[in-house]
Amino acid sequence: VSRKLSRKQLLIAGGAAGAAAAVGGGIVHESRSGATPAQADASVQSPTVPFHGVYQAGILTPSQSDLRFASFDFIGSGKQDLHDLLRAWTTAAATLTAGQPLGTPNEDPAKPPTDTGEATGLAPARLTLTFGLGPTLFDKVGLSSRRPPQLTDIPHFPFDELDPSISGGDLCVQACADDPQVAFHAIRALTRIGFGVTALRWIQSGFTSAPVGNGTKRNLMGFKDGTANPSTSDAAMMKSNVWASAGDGQDWMANGSYLVSRKVEIRIEVWDTSAESEQEGVFGRHKRSGAPFGATSEFDTVHIEDIPARAHIRRANPRQGEVTERERILRRGYNFDEGLDAGFTESVAGLFFLAYQRDPRAQFVPIQSRLAAEDRLNEYIQHVSSAVWAILPGVERPDDYLGQTLFEA
Ligand code: HEM
Repeated sequence: VSRKLSRKQLLIAGGAAGAAAAVGGGIVHESRSGATPAQADASVQSPTVPFHGVYQAGILTPSQSDLRFASFDFIGSGKQDLHDLLRAWTTAAATLTAGQPLGTPNEDPAKPPTDTGEATGLAPARLTLTFGLGPTLFDKVGLSSRRPPQLTDIPHFPFDELDPSISGGDLCVQACADDPQVAFHAIRALTRIGFGVTALRWIQSGFTSAPVGNGTKRNLMGFKDGTANPSTSDAAMMKSNVWASAGDGQDWMANGSYLVSRKVEIRIEVWDTSAESEQEGVFGRHKRSGAPFGATSEFDTVHIEDIPARAHIRRANPRQGEVTERERILRRGYNFDEGLDAGFTESVAGLFFLAYQRDPRAQFVPIQSRLAAEDRLNEYIQHVSSAVWAILPGVERPDDYLGQTLFEA
């Protein structure tokens, strides 16, 4: 029996989800239009984040507590399969992010239920689903000429020890929610819809906790992480550094973005035996306050001469005027913890680094080249996976679908 889901089955899966959206998706339908930064901020207290918008959600959205990131191989037969998959995923994503189950009540009891059920009764938990395409996809579906020049493989850096089985992929979905079970359910649902057209390649889970009274979250090294991020409410900055624009090389990518994902393990046991002054010197910031050396508060201006030459923040951003301003990326990573290594001696934990940007060749790559060449942090970390993704433009209207501009270009 062929594992492959027929085109008709795909459409049925999408259609069933669509019916559910029509019944219960009021929240989504009322709050369309562009996910402006202001709206993204307004979603902090809201249980649902609008799926529809000029840009995809899950980028400017203040980070939810839980991540489930899936990379898929494309095993379908070409462009039409990809098109049908993205249509079906669009409908399902609108339904899931509205907190609705897939499928309709009173389904055929002789068949597996459309919705697997583990999110039934759970709050929508600000679920966002963000979809991207990998560089390897374009040749497979006969769309080589539409591959954006920004979507080129990330070069190998010194000390990278990348595991190919958890690197790369043809499609990705970033599921973020304030409930791990909601994120799990969403990835499971999308995986089932893609059955026969996509196969899971790897999955990464992650978590991040907001401090009391909000503020910058901390990574597993105990430092505030995200302090120097550009402000998501700075629309001009987002346009220049995060969103792809028509004229960047492939017009169909306008209002999309590029995502670099890197799994970075932290040598927790080694880190935990290092002195606090050493730890602070690694970053050039104070551990408790997050203040840069030479200052007292987290958001005080960084005076580069106060930061040790090999400290992480100075290598990442040497603050050389416009040059490094153009490199600024939007980091949105998650912590991970996978227990002990095979020898039961060391923790397998770290940071699943996710960074959105307009052009990895001009942003992530030069930053990481400097870090790989020299960064105090390197003594305590190991990069083990890498991938780059073209994050699709947002789905603006109810009848639109993910990747529409790619097919209709
Ligand atoms: C385990 C891995 C990593 C950890 C624990 C880590 C941690 C940190 C911390 C604590 C800061 C200072 C606070 C902040 O501004 O967010 C920071 C800043 C930064 N990191 Fe990392 N980082 C890691 C990997 C990376 C990688 C792979 C990149 C590659 C692009 C990167 C790029 C940056 C940038 C651009 C900044 C802001 C620098 C500034 O403008 O001051 N980091 N990181």
